[in-house]
Amino acid sequence: MARSAEQVNRTVHVSKEPLAEPPLAIRTLGAQELRTAARRISKVDESVRDLARDMLHSMYAARGIGLAAPQVGVNKQLLVIDLDLDEAATPPLVLINPEITAASASFNSYEEGCLSIPKVYLEVVRPSTVEVSFRDDQGRPRRLKADGLLARCIQHELDHLEGVLFVDRVTDQHSLDEELLQHGFDRNHVQSLR
Ligand code: NI
Repeated sequence: MARSAEQVNRTVHVSKEPLAEPPLAIRTLGAQELRTAARRISKVDESVRDLARDMLHSMYAARGIGLAAPQVGVNKQLLVIDLDLDEAATPPLVLINPEITAASASFNSYEEGCLSIPKVYLEVVRPSTVEVSFRDDQGRPRRLKADGLLARCIQHELDHLEGVLFVDRVTDQHSLDEELLQHGFDRNHVQSLR
């Protein structure tokens, strides 16, 4: 089925080609914006879609698979995710006001990284599958059941909306210390949850 002109114009899907000068700068560990809880978005309008487009450009330029609005200094509950960076036709996921409504009793460990803590990779334990409710880029209520890398990415990005970073969840304190030191980050900016 063909899409109407209006739907085409309203999509947030942008080119995945990395821009030399992405529109929004990504904040790094130590920035206060990363530690502030984000506010709900009351109306999904063109300004929200513009923000999503700019965030996608910044994410693609950094070769990331997920980005949350607080990472670009915007205090709003908006996430963009794209696990398929090399497939131009696959649309990104845009999650507005996301909430995890269920999480599996089973957990797994996975080596995470974050565009706000470049080059730092550490193991984090999280539920293996989650269900999330959210509004999409047209403001429609949606639900999604995710496993694998998508479940991992959704949980990591949702944490950003609460001012939580993946390094706060790392249990291996020795590796955490070493990895942060090696990449020039201050251990005092971690707010350990364990
Ligand atoms: Ni992150």
